[in-house]
Amino acid sequence: MKTAHRQVIIAGNWKMNKTSKEAAALTEQILAGVKSLSANAKNLPEIILCPAYTSLATVGPLLKGTGVKLGAQNMDWRNEGAFTGEISPLMLLDLKTNYVLIGHSERRHLFGETNATTNLRLKAALAHGLKPILCVGEMIDERENELTDAVVGRQVGAGLTDIDPAQFSQVTIAYEPVWAIGTGKTCEAKEANRVCSVIRKTVASLYARYSGNGHKFDAADMPILYGGSVKASNIAEQLKQEHIDGSLVGGASLNAEEFLAIIKAGADRVKHNLAAAAH
Ligand code: PGA
Repeated sequence: MKTAHRQVIIAGNWKMNKTSKEAAALTEQILAGVKSLSANAKNLPEIILCPAYTSLATVGPLLKGTGVKLGAQNMDWRNEGAFTGEISPLMLLDLKTNYVLIGHSERRHLFGETNATTNLRLKAALAHGLKPILCVGEMIDERENELTDAVVGRQVGAGLTDIDPAQFSQVTIAYEPVWAIGTGKTCEAKEANRVCSVIRKTVASLYARYSGNGHKFDAADMPILYGGSVKASNIAEQLKQEHIDGSLVGGASLNAEEFLAIIKAGADRVKHNLAAAAH
């Protein structure tokens, strides 16, 4: 299994939840649990907390020196200007944000974001040294009409259009079927793995366009996450899959105990990868 070298990532998307005081309390609980899991960051997955914009300035400083990373849930692509209600890459950098979710399904379906603006956001994130997590996934009618692979392929292709080839290695993709988000219905692990492998193939063929120009990137190195009703009780099965390198967790990341159990499953996958690499 060619996964040994891939980074394992567990990201918590807190959505529009938690005041900054509550966010600080949840962060402290998570950090205490992470510390007791392992003193050595090498044995842990990359852990990312994505609080609401209003809590970034509170959560960020608490993460300093812990190895846990700060993520934002969205971002505009412009640096400044008359865009009421928007947040720019410079503002996120100012708060030492490391990652940013791009094209989350709630942004696409509740707030009208398109593949085209997803691409603008993703390119702006890369240009500023923020690591984008591009979210893709089909709606239930698309799945029922066997359009899953086409929709997801299109979202990946559009999202990654015209990015600097040297920056493919900075991108993470999260497969989140829309019908599984916040519904308690998870995509069966083998099927999620299949779609993640389609995503990996799409990335490989996009990148192939740039081959020969000196950049070394292998789609087999890109972390691909599953998201959609991930819980402590279903994470292990997901993380056994070849093409699933972690998860983007919504509801379950608001509960420290539940999220820590998911991080622990991520650490088990890291252990498995390290053992495979040693062979
Ligand atoms: P959920 O959300 O875990 O609550 O389904 C996942 C997400 O939206 O990233």
